[in-house]
Amino acid sequence: MDTALKDRVVLVTGGSTGIGAATALAYGREGARVALTYRSKSRSGDEVASRIEAVGGRALTTHLDLEGLDTVERAVGAVVDRWGGIDVLVANAVHWGGDGPPHPDIRFEDVPLEEWQSMIGANLIGAAAQVKAVLPGMRSRGWGRIVLISSSVAEEGVPGPGPYGTAKSGLHGLARSLAWEAGRDGILVNVVAPGLTLTDSRPPLPAAVVHGFATRTPTRRLSDADDVAKLVVFLGSGANGNLTGEVIRDGSAAARAPHPGG
Ligand SMILES: NC(=O)c1ccc[n+]([C@@H]2O[C@H](COP(=O)([O-])OP(=O)(O)OC[C@H]3O[C@@H](n4cnc5c(N)ncnc54)[C@H](OP(=O)(O)O)[C@@H]3O)[C@@H](O)[C@H]2O)c1
Repeated sequence: MDTALKDRVVLVTGGSTGIGAATALAYGREGARVALTYRSKSRSGDEVASRIEAVGGRALTTHLDLEGLDTVERAVGAVVDRWGGIDVLVANAVHWGGDGPPHPDIRFEDVPLEEWQSMIGANLIGAAAQVKAVLPGMRSRGWGRIVLISSSVAEEGVPGPGPYGTAKSGLHGLARSLAWEAGRDGILVNVVAPGLTLTDSRPPLPAAVVHGFATRTPTRRLSDADDVAKLVVFLGSGANGNLTGEVIRDGSAAARAPHPGG
């Protein structure tokens, strides 16, 4: 399949680890120029960039922090300064809040409203800020692909606090509206909603937990970051001719059950 990504400029936010790193590398293998952002792990970002260059791609790393939305404009500006524009946005960066994925033992009423504001500000408005920053350039070139990374939690819920899943479900509405508004300019926008995904960044889960979730999926296995990356690359490429406004769940998400965060 021809992804028509050679020399296209791709911005993968949150590309220093996990799904974002696998996605950035997958775009690099397609010959794209890949910009990836990190928040705290600049060294991890540089390692991903080196791996992209080792497979013949071109890469740059830049800082982006969803808790400071001015950094979104700056990151996009850095990419445009280097390469002249952005053809593909993968809005993958996530502000987990606290110490990581949502904790099932936290009661809804114990979550301060400030936490709601912070999670929705970073994960929903932060995604809108990324889209807003790249859209004018895509419109002027009459071509663009946007992939927003959500979570199965957006539709299935998860025991514990609600801000993470609520912010992610907002991405689905954003994509559906934006698909209508930007489609006339050749811009396709879709959401990928992974379920529990095995990544290099997640502390190892007990084998029994992995097995338990895997047996509830059609394929009897959980996705890894490369599985999600391949799906993202298809949606965010020339191989995607006219699919827009959709939420695509992967095999792990088909478990249709709350999982331990993410
Ligand atoms: N893993 C799963 O099971 C799973 C399931 C469903 C959905 N997802 C979604 O998939 C995406 C990637 O998840 P992942 O598990 O691969 O995550 P991850 O490995 O924890 O990586 C998160 C990325 O986001 C960056 N980041 C963290 N806080 C940030 C902030 N405040 N502002 C900007 N960037 C920030 C990190 O940068 P630094 O490391 O440099 O700080 C890193 O590059 C997320 O959108 C997540 O919601 C994941």
